[in-house]
Amino acid sequence: MGDQVKLNAAGTEYDYPVLKGSVGPDVIDIRKLYAQTGKFTYDPGFTSTASCESALTYIDGDEGVLLHRGYPIGQLAENSSFMETSYLLLNGELPNAAELATFENTITRHTMLHEQLANFYRGFRRDAHPMAIMCGVVGALSAFYHDSTDISDPEHRKISSHRLIAKMPTIAAAAYKYSVGQPFVYPDNKLSYTGNFLRMTFGVPAEEYEVIPAVEKAMDRIFILHADHEQNASTSTVRLAGSSGANPFACIAAGIACLWGPAHGGANEAALNMLKEIGTPDKIQHYIDRAKDKNDPFRLMGFGHRVYKNYDPRATVMQKTVREVFDALKVTDPLFETALRLEEIALSDPYFAEKKLFPNVDFYSGIILSAIGFPTTMFTALFALARTVGWVAQWNEMISDPGQKIGRPRQLYTGPTQRDYVAIGQR
Ligand code: CMC
Repeated sequence: MGDQVKLNAAGTEYDYPVLKGSVGPDVIDIRKLYAQTGKFTYDPGFTSTASCESALTYIDGDEGVLLHRGYPIGQLAENSSFMETSYLLLNGELPNAAELATFENTITRHTMLHEQLANFYRGFRRDAHPMAIMCGVVGALSAFYHDSTDISDPEHRKISSHRLIAKMPTIAAAAYKYSVGQPFVYPDNKLSYTGNFLRMTFGVPAEEYEVIPAVEKAMDRIFILHADHEQNASTSTVRLAGSSGANPFACIAAGIACLWGPAHGGANEAALNMLKEIGTPDKIQHYIDRAKDKNDPFRLMGFGHRVYKNYDPRATVMQKTVREVFDALKVTDPLFETALRLEEIALSDPYFAEKKLFPNVDFYSGIILSAIGFPTTMFTALFALARTVGWVAQWNEMISDPGQKIGRPRQLYTGPTQRDYVAIGQR
């Protein structure tokens, strides 16, 4: 018998098995707890709860380690492409050259949207937030692709996964085009996944759009950095939605809705807005003081993480990429100096040191995206585009598990106990 943990409940002892993963904390298997003791566990925010078993992504938050299928994020960002990393996440192994070529070809051939979908965009106000459009349009895909929504069929799951990954750049680019009143640009199969996205976003029919290789590379790397991140809030949302048997398009739309929040994917937009508000380095101390003030709701956006209690390894790559993009585009942005100085001041402040608050993936990404030409409102849409592969890989992993059950947490009820209805005239 493996390790057990003993629980003494009202004088009776119960043993619970300890399950071991390949790396990382062991977990106490409490599945029989309620049946045996009549008690639930209480863990709002899931700070001590493993919600599932997964072989996709591993994070060691104390050491600042992020692995996809075992490969460190720094190595993938340096050597891989978003398509190759997507294949890895979906299939478990890096592809050989032929497998990668086939995968890229498949994704490329799913990039077009049903023409009828263009009408959906026209129903939105021109000033709609791109994330509002993404939630709606991705959810609406389920009304168009009935031939891939049988979740019990692995082939359907594969096709819908490919469709989602392939169509996200087209959907995100169209959300942008709609907001600036320009015509939608159709995909061009000659281009890479990322080059195609840049052209659909910034190209116009009147002119030939030339993809700048250094920008394409930087953008592709940003996609790799966002591809998956274990059981974060949006991924857990996708899993929970999927656990009821909902179709994948609806599940990913749920993930997009969750990602939108400023504590999650919305932080990239909020971080750049914060840097703009701070403006020059002389104002930094004022904002640091506000972030430390318990009576002030202000937080340093792009700082802190539920899991990382060390430098987010994605932020390291992101900071390096800022310089590469500036060099390629021959631009600079004074906000980058403000961000570097803000990081320096925060990291030398005992408040941030004690709470182990470091820059996260969202701290520097906005500066790059802004240099490339994206408005802040598009930042979280780009996060959603890249995270789609993680969401579908996690969803597939869950559905393929024969022991999969509907996600159904319980609660600690603190409301009124049973009482009799009182007629309105007697209240
Ligand atoms: N600025 C100032 N104080 C902070 C910050 C911050 N950014 N983040 C956490 N704290 C403090 C917080 O006030 C709390 O202090 P105390 O213990 O005295 O009450 C302590 O640090 C722990 O914070 P928490 O909110 O209990 O921690 P959490 O794990 O629930 O929250 C977080 C994690 C990411 C929501 C939070 O750090 C935060 O709001 N950061 C800013 C938003 C952000 O950058 N989000 C992007 C996360 S990375 C991308 C992604 O995964 O989506």
